[in-house]
Amino acid sequence: SATPLKVAVTGAAGQIGYSLLFRLASGALGDRPIELRLLEITPALKALEGVVMELDDCAFPGLAAVEIGDDAEKIFDGVNLALLVGARPRGPGMERSDLLSANGAIFTAQGKALNKVAADDVRIGVTGNPANTNALIAMTNAPDIPQQRFSALTRLDHNRAISQLAAKTGSSVNDIKKMTIWGNHSATQYPDVFHAEVGGKNAFDVVNDQAWVENDFIPTVAKRGAAIIDARGASSAASAASATCNAARDWLNGTPEGDWVSMAVVSDGSYGTPEGIVTSFPVTTKDGGWSIVQGLEINEFSRARIDASNAELVEERAAVTELGLI
Ligand code: NAI
Repeated sequence: SATPLKVAVTGAAGQIGYSLLFRLASGALGDRPIELRLLEITPALKALEGVVMELDDCAFPGLAAVEIGDDAEKIFDGVNLALLVGARPRGPGMERSDLLSANGAIFTAQGKALNKVAADDVRIGVTGNPANTNALIAMTNAPDIPQQRFSALTRLDHNRAISQLAAKTGSSVNDIKKMTIWGNHSATQYPDVFHAEVGGKNAFDVVNDQAWVENDFIPTVAKRGAAIIDARGASSAASAASATCNAARDWLNGTPEGDWVSMAVVSDGSYGTPEGIVTSFPVTTKDGGWSIVQGLEINEFSRARIDASNAELVEERAAVTELGLI
């Protein structure tokens, strides 16, 4: 039988982990068996042992092994896929620079550990916030891993946008193609309907309602995280786990013909985006690699929003440079 895919998950005892591990173990990435390698901070290891007991109790046929620990170099040893979920949330009274330093410490160390011990074919997906800048920090601290192997998660935003557009147009999510999230996984992100399709027709032509796009669609997608916290009393976890699985599966197995996905990846300057930042683009994937969809016409409305979100990422990059994290 096939050698298991070694999948590391950080923050495995957290909320997202509690959903993500079971999805991965039940085959969300495909038929190949997986080995889970779970990283947590020392005080969370006991809780993580409980989660592993539950994984055992599911008797998942595709789960070949589970290892847990608090040492990144041990857990990342030989991993083919690393899902970096664990991060430091913003606490009361915490400034943005405090948040960036706390996460900087985590993602510099994890980048270095991956650089040292991960498998040659490793792919790294960052879910933990601020995801784009955390990915930039890990990438910069892993100089021997090709930069194209790092990505930050905007797939949840992408899925939210698909769901909103399907509801608006009375169609199924299966009818929505070519959705794009541009920029940062933050309130400045730009969900773009101008290139999306509904049942093969241009989405904006179908909707034909600029006010809805501006005043309803964009803010609903961009502020969905806050709406969920408000309703549920806790941040989105199952949907974030689901999107993390979708993103990893498509990266490894390829996107379908006639569609694309949103991934935050290192910019090569496409669409006038500042080179070197990790920002979301429309991408297709094939054979474990991605390429940015080229040649889309960007109207003035989109241009302003893409530029504003990327300007925020340039500021975050300046802040972490200032802090000596990259
Ligand atoms: P959580 O607080 O429930 O879990 C985070 C876990 O990470 C905790 O168990 C903590 O002990 C662990 N952790 C902290 N530092 C660590 C380190 N150095 N190494 C390993 N583990 C470490 O948070 P939750 O709800 O699971 O969310 C995780 C992250 O995902 C947060 O940063 C959240 O903002 C982000 N998120 C991102 C989304 C996206 O679309 N990109 C969507 C939803 C959440």
